[in-house]
Amino acid sequence: MPVVLVGMMGTGKTTVGRRLAPALNLPFFDSDAEIEAAAGMSVAELFEAHGEESFRDGEARVIKRLLEGPPHVLATGGGAVIHPDTRAEIKAKAVSIWLRADIETLVQRATRRDTRPLLRTSDPAATMARLVAEREPFYATADIHIDSQPGPHEQTVAIIIEKIAEFLRASGNEQSGDA
Ligand code: S3P
Repeated sequence: MPVVLVGMMGTGKTTVGRRLAPALNLPFFDSDAEIEAAAGMSVAELFEAHGEESFRDGEARVIKRLLEGPPHVLATGGGAVIHPDTRAEIKAKAVSIWLRADIETLVQRATRRDTRPLLRTSDPAATMARLVAEREPFYATADIHIDSQPGPHEQTVAIIIEKIAEFLRASGNEQSGDA
């Protein structure tokens, strides 16, 4: 079953996913990287050339295609969950993990490089807070919730592996009526 990481920009989905995949013996994909490869443009260039809506359509298509394929670990872009089809695909086909962090940490990490078009505003912290408020109800439907650890990402990876095992045990028990 695919393992899908959701959560805001700056939670470390890509870094954590890249380390989680080999630990689970699965390949790793990043939806932003897949879109960039397909379009031959960076995410920022895509937003500029075609707008957010067109990016969201491409994002939904890429995620659908990946989830129809063999098991893998997938880091999604922070806004992927606003698309209802993407939410439905993730719910139906994957174990989903919400990586959480406080606004200050998110802003600090996400603005280190100027690659995120949505944060090119006069007040990135306010923008981040607004996006978190809009999206949290969607992130919260994920199967597993994890607070991004302040220390090395290995710590977060170890916690995720434990929680996935727990989740699979619990859902297996439910199915066999042992719960
Ligand atoms: C976005 C998050 C980005 C990228 C795009 C839009 C968002 O991905 O998809 O800049 O809407 O939150 P990361 O979450 O990997 O930064």
